[in-house]
Amino acid sequence: MRPTDVKRLNRQWRRRTEGRLALLVESVTQPFNLGSILRTCATFGVDHLWLTGNSADPDDPKVGKTALGTAAKVEHTRLSSTPQALAAAHEAGYRVVAVELAGGAVPLHAAPLEADVCLAVGAEDHGCSPALLAGADALTYIPQIGRVGSLNVAVATAIALAEARRREWASFGEDADAPAGN
Ligand SMILES: C[S@@+](CC[C@H](N)C(=O)[O-])C[C@H]1O[C@@H](n2cnc3c(N)ncnc32)[C@H](O)[C@@H]1O
Repeated sequence: MRPTDVKRLNRQWRRRTEGRLALLVESVTQPFNLGSILRTCATFGVDHLWLTGNSADPDDPKVGKTALGTAAKVEHTRLSSTPQALAAAHEAGYRVVAVELAGGAVPLHAAPLEADVCLAVGAEDHGCSPALLAGADALTYIPQIGRVGSLNVAVATAIALAEARRREWASFGEDADAPAGN
């Protein structure tokens, strides 16, 4: 597809998509991971991003290498603690669903991801903090079939955000199933 066709296609999906979707990022320290997360946020229309812990800074030039100009398109707030970030998301009307391989978590396809939902992801090395897991309204994990410990955090974020959007899109009528370019 030509860039103008992609723009038109994006516009069509933007008009149809109404659910509010947000993200809380806790202590994702690698700039390339945060950049990739920002690009995914821009792609799926994340309304707000809360950053906490020692997460990388969206303005860091190293973030820009993977964000590719999308950082400016994602409204974000940095808060100094996880309880503050959770409170901000709750105050804004979101149900917080932490994405983590944690006890009590339900598989992604069964998670309460309908709008208004704020997904939360954790640090590359130690995952979501106990405070985040305790303060979330629900926990979900992405099932893994291979013999791996976990996904890269940016990849896990993309899978979870895509699933949250898919929930709304799956409820659309046949018109929305038209192939791109029609
Ligand atoms: C690399 S993982 C952290 C792994 C860490 N070694 C641990 O054992 O907790 C970083 C983040 O990615 C997300 N993540 C990665 N794989 C996941 C999965 N299969 N299900 C849910 N979240 C996942 C979580 O948000 C996690 O906090």
